[in-house]
Amino acid sequence: MLRDIQDEIIRIKKEKDICILAHSYQSEDILEVADFTGDSYALSVKATGISNKTIVMCGVRFMAETAKLLSPDKTVYLANPDAGCPMAEQFSKEYIANLRKEEYKDYAVVAYINTTTDLKTVCDVCVTSSSAVKIVKNMPEKDILFIPDCNLGAYVAEKCPEKNIKLLNGGCPVHAAITKEEALEAKAKHPEALLLVHPECKNEVTSLADFAGSTADIMNFAKSSDAKEFIIGTENSIVQHLQIMCPDKKFYAMSKNLICNDMKLTTLSDVYNTITGNGGEEIILSDDTIEKAVKCINKMIELG
Ligand code: 13P
Ligand code: SF4
Repeated sequence: MLRDIQDEIIRIKKEKDICILAHSYQSEDILEVADFTGDSYALSVKATGISNKTIVMCGVRFMAETAKLLSPDKTVYLANPDAGCPMAEQFSKEYIANLRKEEYKDYAVVAYINTTTDLKTVCDVCVTSSSAVKIVKNMPEKDILFIPDCNLGAYVAEKCPEKNIKLLNGGCPVHAAITKEEALEAKAKHPEALLLVHPECKNEVTSLADFAGSTADIMNFAKSSDAKEFIIGTENSIVQHLQIMCPDKKFYAMSKNLICNDMKLTTLSDVYNTITGNGGEEIILSDDTIEKAVKCINKMIELG
């Protein structure tokens, strides 16, 4: 039955010239029908060079909007219209524009890609977790306001001591909720395992890790490492994906709470309904918004 739906999706997407992009946090059955899977940075880079006329994004809203910004001539759908990222909504465009005017006049504003398109229109450059350190180092400006994730921002600030980085109080509610105690408990339970964490976690957690990096960085580290056991400090779908990719290694979740409900919303049925014209949401952005917001995404690709 599952195989039947997957085969049908693969047949229809070819017939209709559709490219399915899926973030690595999606479920295995979706990754299997996708044309390309990866972390936020890889998905953005991929979205610049797609020849198909339609893109279906399996992930959250800002990812579909990023694909539309980079491929404005394509029809882009978000497979499940309810899948948002709570962090992306934390600061409004007006609030940041006002901060730029009042408090941080001469600062460059670096926005984590997990932001709304509207907010991107008043920022200078976007970053993803895998590209943030490199991009900030490559920027000519010394004074930087990093929004919205204060944990990723603090991680970047630690790696870029030459910069003056100011932070706001935003962040990923899923990663930031994990405590040092949970990390220590996981380490005590699996003393032989290496701890790999996402920099969206608090410093009290990343400082206990053997490695910190984006989703793709974590997966690549685990795949190429000689170690045999790993505690995964990011969304728990990655524990399962890695276990399937590396059957001779063992993967454990750092916490049972590392679950992004938004990323879990998209189902294989949503993908089927979207490509058959019975679901999903087409991403519509005005030309003016695209023109203003795409600048900081292009800058990210140029500097990253
Ligand atoms: P990356 O895909 O950049 O690792 O980010 C993880 C995440 O939280 C996506 O929303
Ligand atoms: Fe947003 Fe966090 Fe979910 Fe990523 S894991 S989509 S940052 S809430």
